[in-house]
Amino acid sequence: MPVISISLSSKLLRKLDMFMRDKGYSSRSEAIRDGIRDLLAEFELSKLEKGKVTATITVISAHERHDVDQRLMRLRHEHDEIVSADMHIHLGREYCLEVFITRGEAEKVLGFISKIRAMRGIQQVKYTMVPLLDENT
Ligand code: NI
Repeated sequence: MPVISISLSSKLLRKLDMFMRDKGYSSRSEAIRDGIRDLLAEFELSKLEKGKVTATITVISAHERHDVDQRLMRLRHEHDEIVSADMHIHLGREYCLEVFITRGEAEKVLGFISKIRAMRGIQQVKYTMVPLLDENT
């Protein structure tokens, strides 16, 4: 099996170790492999989504990372045709919460979500997607 090295913050590593012990994983590698499988499975599933959808996307980032806000807003402008609204809220002093309401072709909405996921400094991305039925049905 190929061996790769990854960088994690010490806080995230502590959480990973706690999670591992709680869930009974025998190694960090095993836990990380499982996480990767889940992430890939989610994208495989999302490829099956076709047609028009509406999605609410929740993004959490560290408040100190102002660069994340800037990059998120640039991305938002690049996807203006699918982003109907967005809201920025502060969760205490530590975190920023961004909520995007989107609407459009599933492929485009999922592309937008992938780009947010791939962005440095983002802590969590969750979304709820609802298919929009054809007006004629
Ligand atoms: Ni903020």
